[in-house]
Amino acid sequence: MTALTLSTSGAATLRADALVVGVAKDAGSKAGGLVVAPGAEAVDKAFDGKLATVLETLGASGAEGEVTKLPAPSGLKAPVVIAVGLGPVPAKGEAYDAEALRRAAGSAARALKGSKKAGFALPTESAEDAGAVAEGALLGAYAFTAYQGGENKLAPKDAKSGKDAKLPLGEVALLGGKPRDKAFKAAAERAAAVAEEINRARDLINTPPNDLYPESFAAVATAAGKEHGIKVQVLDEKALAKGGFGGLLGVGQGSTHGPRLVKLSYTHPKAEKTLALVGKGITYDSGGISLKPAGHNETMKCDMAGAAAVFAAVVSASRLGLRVNVTGWLALAENMPSGNATRPGDVLRMYSGKTVEVLNTDAEGRLVLADALTRASEEKPDAIVDVATLTGAMVLALGNRTFGVMANDDAFRTSIHEIAEEVGEASWPMPLPADLRKGMDSPTADIANMGERMGGGLVAGLFLQEFVGEGIAWAHLDIAGPAFHEGAPYGYTPKGGTGSAVRTLVRLAERTAAGDLG
Ligand code: BES
Ligand code: MN
Ligand code: ZN
Repeated sequence: MTALTLSTSGAATLRADALVVGVAKDAGSKAGGLVVAPGAEAVDKAFDGKLATVLETLGASGAEGEVTKLPAPSGLKAPVVIAVGLGPVPAKGEAYDAEALRRAAGSAARALKGSKKAGFALPTESAEDAGAVAEGALLGAYAFTAYQGGENKLAPKDAKSGKDAKLPLGEVALLGGKPRDKAFKAAAERAAAVAEEINRARDLINTPPNDLYPESFAAVATAAGKEHGIKVQVLDEKALAKGGFGGLLGVGQGSTHGPRLVKLSYTHPKAEKTLALVGKGITYDSGGISLKPAGHNETMKCDMAGAAAVFAAVVSASRLGLRVNVTGWLALAENMPSGNATRPGDVLRMYSGKTVEVLNTDAEGRLVLADALTRASEEKPDAIVDVATLTGAMVLALGNRTFGVMANDDAFRTSIHEIAEEVGEASWPMPLPADLRKGMDSPTADIANMGERMGGGLVAGLFLQEFVGEGIAWAHLDIAGPAFHEGAPYGYTPKGGTGSAVRTLVRLAERTAAGDLG
């Protein structure tokens, strides 16, 4: 785990393995247009004010994500300087965009894998910017190494093993921040708590499904609840059967690992509002009897990313001591084919009492979520947000980096979209067209779990809506695209689990605590 410190020493005297500075593109200037960003004055001075020229000679352009490493001059205690691109210089009088800072800090932290300590001398004119740099660095430093470095018993004794896999950067020392300034300190502490929980969510998503299944996920939640003062209740198969949770049971019955419904309750004595968060927690989605073909199941350990996000958000709310009640519901099941599995054509009686004809066992997420949404609604929260890797159709619509936001309330959908934008998560509002409902008409049951193929992401949203209690504001985030990153890492986004939606949920909780929302 990467540590975060606020450094009182200047960049020149900091003892560290490297100093990180920002460089930006200045379209307006003629001299090649490279500018050293604020925060790096002392470093530039050690280069006799020629850092931009040196970097230009080395081929730097200031482009976002660009990392240039160079040896430090004698005036600095750190031996290496890392210049990271911030993109274009902001317009006169404007500060660097928080997301540009986050990404630059993330790229630098990733380039520092294997190092013990680095000083970050990026622009941090406001506490908010310092928080962005801290958050980006801690998220960018993330690496999932739990399954690497195993001893190879047959290899010669001196053979290199994966043990040499580089560890994440050990310490991020934030420079330029004012350690005695309350706002800076609070921003840094918030960033550290949220980044740690996002990285915990990433760990859960990346953990292979032979180790992470509903029971083991529930055990992780129970342990975290103890640590952070969150009440955790787990319904196992027996309790689910007694309660009539037909959706969770129907999806989970093909697996030797039974389903669970986990309730996490964070409460604040002075809270005025209660937020319910519901997460899709399919620890592995094989598709069930409607089996996914090869090429579509290799990354399906990520199908619990919604539940991981909800879990991380509830723990974050508790660690930040937010003045709002946050209840998390993790709908956990493993979707497997077997002699006990639900068949296409089976009818499930859901927790709400509604019957569902399962036409495709690969449309399982909506079934587990439906039960959790009904259960969450019983407690009459002020709002419900569910998060789910729900449909391939949403990935086709919005791509791999943007999640879709649907809601039964226009203002709430707009708020969520704006909050996501504010914290640097890409999202887009999507409609719930009523005409798509008839595609789910079933000759046998109240509703089928599948409808028209076109607009499949919206069809799934319409299905969920039927299980939300009357009069409760509800939003649905389909994170199937951004939950799991298969390409090369960029900014603070690693390969694998990303922790998508956590920052949006945490900011939503903060806003609700502040009384900013309805
Ligand atoms: N877990 C998948 C959706 C998914 C796809 C997540 C790609 C992440 C990346 C979901 O359970 C699923 O299989 N959905 C089906 C629904 C269809 C059968 C109606 C889909 O999208 O194809
Ligand atoms: Mn599926
Ligand atoms: Zn799924």
